[in-house]
Amino acid sequence: MISRRHLLASALAAPAFAARPFRYADIEAKIAKRDFTGITKEDLPTPAMVVDLAAFERNLKAMASYTKANGIDLRAHCKIHKSTHIAKRQVALGSLGITCATVAEAELMVGAGIPHVLYSSQAAGKNKIARTIALAAKDPTFMCVADDPLTVDLLDEAAGAAKIKLNLLADLHAGLTRAGHATGAPGLALAQNIDRRKNLKFMGVMGYSGTASHTKGWEARRAKSITDVKPVVDTAELCRKAGMNVAMITGGSTGTYNIDKEIGLTELQAGSYVFMDTLYMTVGGKSDPALYTDFVPSMAVMTTVISQNHKGQVTIDAGNKAMLKPTDRVVGRPEVIVENQGAEYGILKWTEGNGFKLGERAELYCSNLDTSTNVYDRYYVCEGDKLVDVWPIMGRAGALQR
Ligand SMILES: Cc1ncc(COP(=O)(O)O)c(C=O)c1O
Repeated sequence: MISRRHLLASALAAPAFAARPFRYADIEAKIAKRDFTGITKEDLPTPAMVVDLAAFERNLKAMASYTKANGIDLRAHCKIHKSTHIAKRQVALGSLGITCATVAEAELMVGAGIPHVLYSSQAAGKNKIARTIALAAKDPTFMCVADDPLTVDLLDEAAGAAKIKLNLLADLHAGLTRAGHATGAPGLALAQNIDRRKNLKFMGVMGYSGTASHTKGWEARRAKSITDVKPVVDTAELCRKAGMNVAMITGGSTGTYNIDKEIGLTELQAGSYVFMDTLYMTVGGKSDPALYTDFVPSMAVMTTVISQNHKGQVTIDAGNKAMLKPTDRVVGRPEVIVENQGAEYGILKWTEGNGFKLGERAELYCSNLDTSTNVYDRYYVCEGDKLVDVWPIMGRAGALQR
């Protein structure tokens, strides 16, 4: 039989539920009406992505004022956030347009009315070429890249058939073997090939150095960036000398944003700066060789502790499906380490401090924004503990979004 004392103890252990009954359906209905009043982080499901609005705004403004003050343009990359809301905010703060990694992202951004979208991967195969041409037909400011003469042929032919002129850049090798035509004479030849086509408009060159972006230490990063990107800028110069109009030399990243202008890029495609992830936090900055503090972490994956049967460790409700990684960091608790446990489970471990308790929330900075963002549906935007907005994450799943 349950004693009076036991009942009293359990009532004391759960005051929040007694004071405010948990009705998740009500919360979803409120969110659908965009009425966020009274909703706090505690009400939200986990695992969930939570954005610290003040820190997010600080990052956006830091990049906007850096680019304005230093005479380099920004065409912010959206693969990190996949959110039209964030893209519009970036454009409002001066981003020339938005850079996209996939045709689905480009469709999302163009569909949201964002001009000057750059699809920065090569459109290969019937499906992607057809969708690229449709984007150009819908928005004459849309642009894309080619790193192969075959693509130049196919895009020219498809643009001609659609009776449109497609804005095209030559994608040049900048240290990353993922993509990019050889620089120098071959790069010039590719650019000239684009420039002489009836249905294509040569816009300039792209050279993205993904190897420089995460090089540790600012001086080492600068050196790597010069090695990788200078040949791209030199090839743009060859194009100019050959009489071509090079309207843009695009590339760059969050890691090299304060390096690329001196090399000669005219615009940056930085993306991660909006949220920051743990890979970027440890690349080191100009002022601190160990920590990159130019932009602050503004987004975390909020989890719930769901079991606590062993000393110095608890289980959380985020595992492989939530893209949990041992390199994730627990917000405000540097002494706690993260371990993968399985598809739906993660482990937090500690040997000092108070650790975590059953039912408690633990927020984690993710290791790589691109992959984590891809498995969530929305950003819960918060001011302190209060929910103030919800931004959908799109362009990532389902037939229409691939
Ligand atoms: C083509 C391209 N441009 C720019 C970036 C820069 O992004 P971030 O600032 O997140 O490093 C990326 C990231 O992978 C990219 O693939």
